[in-house]
Amino acid sequence: MSNSRIPAVLTGLGTCLPPRTVTNDDLAQRLETSHEWIHSRTGIAGRRVVDAGTGTAELAAAAGSAALESAGRSSCDLVIVATTTPDRACPATAPQVASAMGLPGAAAFDLSAVCSGFVYGLSVAAAMIGAGTFGSVLVIGAERYSAIVDPQDRGTAVIFGDGAGAVLLERGQESVGQGAVLHTELGSDGTGNELITVPPGERYLRMKGREVYTRAVPTMVESARRVAAAVGWQPEDIDAFVGHQANLRILESVAKRLGLPPERMITNIEEVGNTAAASIPLALASAADRGLLTPGDRVVLTAFGGGLTWGSAALLWPDLRPVHR
Ligand code: COA
Repeated sequence: MSNSRIPAVLTGLGTCLPPRTVTNDDLAQRLETSHEWIHSRTGIAGRRVVDAGTGTAELAAAAGSAALESAGRSSCDLVIVATTTPDRACPATAPQVASAMGLPGAAAFDLSAVCSGFVYGLSVAAAMIGAGTFGSVLVIGAERYSAIVDPQDRGTAVIFGDGAGAVLLERGQESVGQGAVLHTELGSDGTGNELITVPPGERYLRMKGREVYTRAVPTMVESARRVAAAVGWQPEDIDAFVGHQANLRILESVAKRLGLPPERMITNIEEVGNTAAASIPLALASAADRGLLTPGDRVVLTAFGGGLTWGSAALLWPDLRPVHR
């Protein structure tokens, strides 16, 4: 992806996490596992899970509205919902989300790139703003993995959680000012499509965790290096590395291989688990709340997931306050 002619600037950040937490000890009551095993292998202590009746669209609309509020806006031109867990196979989730948010007539579509969905969405949004097609785009990552996780499968039930995070991108003035999305890069390898899949005709997700782990680390490192190089940064210039929150050990390995000190690696996986397309905006909001991001910081977002898909974005952190619903 090349740099856009019209700058796309991040102006709002919103989240929605379901109130109910399922702890590792809760899972250990019905699965052969333990807090010790889960925490030491993944870094996860708890994950949020929706109650029956709450769908992906509801989470997405709440996070989207929060992002608009964070930006001080009441409307936008396009809504992109990145999700692997839509409430229905047809139609797309995004039009329903736009209506629920009170955005009559807004363009709206879903994007499916599993755990890379948010970065794919950010790239599409920045390109469309760059081309002058839209002036403002809401990119929402929203997931309800509890709908597709086999409650008896300890390999996946311990990892995934529900939630949504969203950003507003708007047409900006300065291509290298605060909030500017400087560059994105995306990739895929469909030969790995069986590693994370809901097999045809089946209800539940199946994952070859060990193989995913092995492929995630070098792919994320290369993608992060490529996006940094494209904007003229050395890996050590990165002030905050926000990787997809798949597994704490994956993030630690990636940061180490990039030569980044641990404090520049952002993580919130302990509290929310792996929320797939929602993971990066949720991690950004958590970091902003904790004061770990300063306006002007050089931030790299890197995702990897089912497909296989991956992608990175380089941006300059804006001056904003996340809103939570
Ligand atoms: N509790 C206890 N034991 C478990 C377990 C659990 N929740 N899950 C698996 N095990 C057992 C396995 O059965 C296996 O036992 P065995 O040696 O007797 O056969 C042993 O632990 C090791 O299994 P393995 O799958 O090799 O473990 P791992 O160290 O690779 O950890 C994951 C498993 C899933 C945590 C890890 O592979 C992972 O995080 N992979 C990446 C997943 C990911 O990022 N997915 C999303 C991508 S977007």
